[in-house]
Amino acid sequence: MSARRDTGPAFEPAARLFPPLLVATPAEWLERASTQWRELLVDHANCEKKAASTALSLLFAYAEDHALTAQLSRLAREELRHFEQVQRLMVSLDVPFQRLSPSRYAESLRRAARVEEPGRRIDLLICGGLIEARSCERFTALAPRLPEPLGTFYRTLSEAELRHFSVYFRLGETAAKEDAVEFGARVTKLAEIEGSLISRPDPQFRFHSGRPAADA
Ligand SMILES: [Fe+2]
Ligand SMILES: [Fe+2]
Repeated sequence: MSARRDTGPAFEPAARLFPPLLVATPAEWLERASTQWRELLVDHANCEKKAASTALSLLFAYAEDHALTAQLSRLAREELRHFEQVQRLMVSLDVPFQRLSPSRYAESLRRAARVEEPGRRIDLLICGGLIEARSCERFTALAPRLPEPLGTFYRTLSEAELRHFSVYFRLGETAAKEDAVEFGARVTKLAEIEGSLISRPDPQFRFHSGRPAADA
């Protein structure tokens, strides 16, 4: 496979806002990602592994919830297939593996989840959905800016992430109904934190990092 540049427009307007996200990915991040896609691909491989591992940890934490375990088991398998696809692309595009520290994004979001149940399960499902929604937004925005075959690959991944977002949010809504607790207010609260992680200057450059800091 060659890293031929897509003939589409080099720069499009900033990413379109994707519900339930409250802020769009900053244009500076998109510009940097469209040139530093090799570095990004290494972190992307890590994100796919982490997505599988997050789903698996929920499977263990809420083992009695059949709908959750059935859907997140399928989701974890799909994330691992994405990981295998990214790894194959890294080989064909001659992108070497390197160890990268994770970005602040997922851990900071997870720290915002309530500690006590039933709030914790609902919050962790919302966090999972927000991360999938952000991935969907970024894949969609990046696809036309990246060389082939990455552009096409990212287009297909954006569809998968949209589906994953729906899985997490449906499970979260069901859990909230069962426990007769609010869902929308927690979505707004966690989406605000998510938006701030995306908007604030970030010294690291990663798939889910924030606005690139001037010296990053
Ligand atoms: Fe994925
Ligand atoms: Fe996903």
